[in-house]
Amino acid sequence: MMKLICVALVAMLSLTHALVKEEIQAKEYLENLNKELARRTNIETEASWAYGSNVNEENEKRKNEVSAELAKFMKEVSVDIQKFNWRSYQNEDIKRQFKSLSKLGYAALPEADYAEFLEAVSSMESNFAKVKVCDYKDNTKCDLSLEPEIEEVITKSRDPEELKHYWVQFYAKAGTAVRPQFERYVELNTKAAKLNNFTSGAEVWLDEYEDETFEKQLEDIFAEIRPLYEQVHGYVRYRLRKHYGDAVVPEKGPLPMHLLGNMWAQKWSAIADLVSPFPDKPIVDVTAEMPPVVRTEKDFDAPAKYHISADVEYLRYLVSFIIQFQFYKSACIKAGQYDPKNPALPLDNCDIYGSAEAGAAFHNMLSLGASKPWPDALEAFNGERIMSGKAIAEYFEPLRVWLEAENIKNNVHIGWTASDKCVSD
Ligand SMILES: *[C@@H]1O[C@H](CO)[C@@H](O)[C@H](O)[C@H]1NC(C)=O
Ligand SMILES: *[C@@H]1O[C@H](CO)[C@@H](O)[C@H](O)[C@H]1NC(C)=O
Ligand SMILES: *[C@@H]1O[C@H](CO)[C@@H](O)[C@H](O)[C@H]1NC(C)=O
Ligand SMILES: *[C@@H]1O[C@H](CO)[C@@H](O)[C@H](O)[C@H]1NC(C)=O
Repeated sequence: MMKLICVALVAMLSLTHALVKEEIQAKEYLENLNKELARRTNIETEASWAYGSNVNEENEKRKNEVSAELAKFMKEVSVDIQKFNWRSYQNEDIKRQFKSLSKLGYAALPEADYAEFLEAVSSMESNFAKVKVCDYKDNTKCDLSLEPEIEEVITKSRDPEELKHYWVQFYAKAGTAVRPQFERYVELNTKAAKLNNFTSGAEVWLDEYEDETFEKQLEDIFAEIRPLYEQVHGYVRYRLRKHYGDAVVPEKGPLPMHLLGNMWAQKWSAIADLVSPFPDKPIVDVTAEMPPVVRTEKDFDAPAKYHISADVEYLRYLVSFIIQFQFYKSACIKAGQYDPKNPALPLDNCDIYGSAEAGAAFHNMLSLGASKPWPDALEAFNGERIMSGKAIAEYFEPLRVWLEAENIKNNVHIGWTASDKCVSD
């Protein structure tokens, strides 16, 4: 009996011993692999840059070849990795690196599907880069590009008909035109997700954030910034109505996208002259013969945004815009520049320049690189582990209070009713 227990114990110890030994080897394997991956990723990045900054067939071919080569290498790595019992390792960082390497992404697709996937994306990307539209006043001149000609008009023109012309043409050519490629892209994206044991491409992208509560955090952010957004929205619509009139900007509708000074209505700084509180602009009388352009199933607007055409996950932009205020607020407190209880030190007037304490916090966070999940990096910065919209809301609170008073004074409707119209006709 005693002998049996001893044998079992020795067997277990040697198993543990073997695992510890394997983990040491695994660490060395990762060190070498990381070097090789850095080399190969650099080649791929260079090829993507060459194509992105100089769209032509030769560069497209080279970019797709290099991507396919890297995908093949990653497939080999994922086979190698199955030899390691990494799920049983002690060190969390090592386990996390193996988990990350075991994700194949699009490379999980069969070779022919993978090639087709790359073709679909580069065809959308190249279409986006090459879109040309016709001149508003001269329909025989059809060589206007997004940059610089169309952007020039979208930011500077205050003629709603001209703005509508460019908006409609651009969305038809950058969006609707690539619908078939987009449909194939979605199919293959979903197929790759399923081969990686996810249910959808969205789940794959969310998994990268390594946080079960991530979607809940996003919902909380929307709730936190909505009161500010509603006041800005109501006020901007009120000012646009003063400029363009009731027929172009209805009292309770959504903001007409083409009037905001940006093709995707994502940045409104180009119309500051129309919406900033001073000076008051006179109301321009527009003719009553304007009915709205209705967007239907036949239109397809999504690929008219570069990131959609180029398969770039876009949530990162929302995250970065929100958390930069979170960083800013913490850095201001560390620098002794912001004190919520002291009106002489407001959040919107802080300056962290030269603060060693704020600098050290950035250093602690940035020196982690990608070695830790992001909540660990945030914690190294300011002790917090979740994203929050509180800091951005706090920063703009004086503006929100001002806007609310103005909107009440001007009897401005807050909120908007749904519409299937995108631009007024
Ligand atoms: C664009 O790429 C081609 C190769 O396809 C190259 O010959 C040319 O020099 C590149 N142009 C620029 C401006 O980099
Ligand atoms: C885990 O491994 C990493 C990378 O080799 C190392 O930097 C870290 O100190 C290890 N952690 C522990 C707790 O041993
Ligand atoms: C171009 O404009 C002219 C003059 O307004 C018009 O007669 C013609 O039908 C237009 N052609 C197209 C293709 O829209
Ligand atoms: C997905 O799950 C199946 C069945 O559990 C497994 O055989 C396969 O290795 C998994 N694939 C990946 C990429 O994890």
